[in-house]
Amino acid sequence: MKLFDVYSLFDVTPVKAKDVYVYDDAGNKYLDLYGGHAVISVGHSHPHYVENIKSQLDKISFYSNSVKNPLQSVLAEKINEHADLKDYQLFLCSSGAESIENALKLASFHTNKKRVIAFKNSFHGRTSAAVAVTDNHKISSPLNKQQNVTFLKLNDYENLEIELKKGDVCAVIFETIQGVGGLDMPKGDFICYMDRLCKQYGTCLIADEVQSGFSRSGKFFAYQFNNIEPDIITMAKGMGNGFPVGGILINSKIKPSVGLLGTTYGGNHLACIASISVLDILKNQNLQKNASSLESYFKNSIDSMNICKVKGKGLMLGLEFDFEVSELRKKLVYEKRIFTGSSSNKNLIRILPPLTISKKHLNIFFDALKDIL
Ligand SMILES: Cc1ncc(COP(=O)(O)O)c(C=O)c1O
Repeated sequence: MKLFDVYSLFDVTPVKAKDVYVYDDAGNKYLDLYGGHAVISVGHSHPHYVENIKSQLDKISFYSNSVKNPLQSVLAEKINEHADLKDYQLFLCSSGAESIENALKLASFHTNKKRVIAFKNSFHGRTSAAVAVTDNHKISSPLNKQQNVTFLKLNDYENLEIELKKGDVCAVIFETIQGVGGLDMPKGDFICYMDRLCKQYGTCLIADEVQSGFSRSGKFFAYQFNNIEPDIITMAKGMGNGFPVGGILINSKIKPSVGLLGTTYGGNHLACIASISVLDILKNQNLQKNASSLESYFKNSIDSMNICKVKGKGLMLGLEFDFEVSELRKKLVYEKRIFTGSSSNKNLIRILPPLTISKKHLNIFFDALKDIL
């Protein structure tokens, strides 16, 4: 049977991976500056992570959400400790798009309204409501287009208030650092303005931290560069370091009731232990600090090369050139054996490495760039 051919593939077959390196079936070693799309947070095959998952497998890997699973509460406590939040509740699911679906659904339940405000160049996933709030018509089917969504430009203060005043908006959803869109960021002042206005007009503010969360930006959540309190925070990717885990953090003013949300796989034993292990490693190895200190090292090094502009925060970075980068990315993979990411901005390379990366690895990339350009 053929595979449904929807991905554009590099001709590389990874068979093992260790920390910041991936190895293919011919024994080639690749420096991973892509992290499998910002997923690998604490490094490939981290021994603590692998050990914990193996020993959990020996005990119990899964049971449904019809019984108690204390690991879910351990995970909730640890997220709370890392993010230093007050009064949030955790609901677990298994992917980024699923976290967005649940966030939007909950906002609509809570406010009893149904229009959503999203932003130009946003990416929130490919399922029903998630793709409807994603600014890419090509991946939205007629079914998805039935949703009621208004797209505004980032930092459009005036229209945000005009739209919210209409009184029918259940949620404003935003990325503090746009991922797939190409690392643009709303102004901090605009983020605070959204928070204020949402509170004023009875609309939920959803911070999409699927890509930027779990310390990648140099804060636990990227929105925490600003003093706001979103109603719902979405998470996935780095949360599981490759194990499919997602979740939403829900402000305590939104009350649960039995059956309001639910999923079979969300919060299973293996998913919880994977994410608990990630949080332990982030803390023990001080990886959030590493992400923020490498940001300045990366930016200074690139600035001194004078070849392109750097965008983003922490280890969620974009290099914007004045030409299309697809050939450059191919050369990086096939000649220099370095993985990087693309974005909807064709002139931009994304840098999303494991947070365990160090200066010596980044220097390998800088040398490779100098060589190719
Ligand atoms: C900001 C953001 N939200 C949501 C998603 C969707 O996540 P997933 O691919 O796990 O469904 C992505 C994926 O890239 C993302 O970057």
